[in-house]
Amino acid sequence: MSEKHERTVPAVVGVLGGGRMGAGIAHAFLLAGSKVTVVERDGQAAEAAQERIERDLAKSLERGTVDGNLDEWSQNLTLSLEYADFAGCDLVVEAVPEVWDLKVSALQEVERNLGETAWLATNTSSLSVDGLAEQLQRPERFCGLHFFNPVPASKLVEVVISKHTGEELKKLSVQWVEGLGKTPVVVNDAPGFASSRLGVAIALEAIRMVEEGVASPEDIDNAMVLGYKFPVGPLALTDIVGLDVRLGIAEYLESTLGERFAPPQLMRDMVARGELGRKTGKGFFSYDG
Ligand SMILES: NC(=O)c1ccc[n+]([C@@H]2O[C@H](COP(=O)([O-])OP(=O)(O)OC[C@H]3O[C@@H](n4cnc5c(N)ncnc54)[C@H](O)[C@@H]3O)[C@@H](O)[C@H]2O)c1
Repeated sequence: MSEKHERTVPAVVGVLGGGRMGAGIAHAFLLAGSKVTVVERDGQAAEAAQERIERDLAKSLERGTVDGNLDEWSQNLTLSLEYADFAGCDLVVEAVPEVWDLKVSALQEVERNLGETAWLATNTSSLSVDGLAEQLQRPERFCGLHFFNPVPASKLVEVVISKHTGEELKKLSVQWVEGLGKTPVVVNDAPGFASSRLGVAIALEAIRMVEEGVASPEDIDNAMVLGYKFPVGPLALTDIVGLDVRLGIAEYLESTLGERFAPPQLMRDMVARGELGRKTGKGFFSYDG
C-alpha cells in the first residue's frame, strides 16, 4: 500500500550535516514534498551525503511504501558548503556530531544566516536542549527534533520542548512530524528524553541480572519478548546499539539523574574487552560475519 502524506511540513528545509542522521532527515522531508538544502563541511562529505540520500530515496520507491518521482526529489535536493544557503529556509535541522562546542557554534552560525521567521531544531540525542537554547538569540524559535536511526524505517520522533520554546513552535513541530508520516512524542527537556532514559534503565537492569546470575541473556530477553511483547530483548538491543554507546549514555544519565543509572561492572568489563555487540561480533550474544 502506498501512503501519501498531508503537506504540513515546511516548504523549504535545511539540514546541517548530511551524515547518517542528517541524510535520513533530508530523505524524510523530501518524501513529504519539501525542498531540502543540506550543508556539509567539505566536498567529499557533501558528495557522500548526496549519494546516501539518493540511494535511500530509490530504495523507498522500490519498496513501494511511498508515491513520488526520483527526478523530482533530486531536483528538490541541494548540497552546499555554505551556511548562507540556509537563508530562504523555513526550518533548519542541525545534525552535526554530538559535541557541545561544535553544536553551539554551528547552531549560532545557522541562526545568523536565517530569516527572522525561520525555525531551528537540533537532532541531539543527549545534550541539553534548554542549554543549547540559551546560546541562541531567538530561543523561542528553537526545539529538539530527535529522529531515530535508521530514519526511513523509524516511525518515532521525540519533539523536545525547552523552557524557552514558544507556543507556536510547540504546535508546529508536532504537525511537521505527523506530516512526515511519523509519530511525535512530546517531551520536556530532561536527560535522556523519554526514549534513552527508559530504554537504558531496562537494559542496565537486564545487565545486572546477567551479572548476578539470575538468568541467561537468552532467557532474560525471551522473558521480555514473549512475556511483554518487546520486539527485541533489552540485551539484543544493547548489542545492536553498541555496549560502548550505551555505556556513554548510562554515564551521562548517572551524572545527571543519579546513581540508579550507574553502569554495572559487567558492562564496563565487556567494553574494556572490546565486546561491543554486533559491530565486533560479540556482546551478550555472538554474531557471525
Ligand atoms: N546515529 C544515531 O543512531 C543517532 C540517533 C539519533 C540522534 N543522533 C544524533 O544525530 C547527530 C548526528 O549523528 P550522526 O550519527 O548522523 O553522525 P555522523 O557522524 O554520521 O554525521 C555527522 C555529519 O556532520 C558533518 N559535519 C561535521 N561538522 C560539520 C559542520 N561544522 N558543518 C556541517 N557539517 C558538519 C559530518 O561531515 C558528518 O557528515 C548527533 O547529534 C547524534 O547524537 C544520532
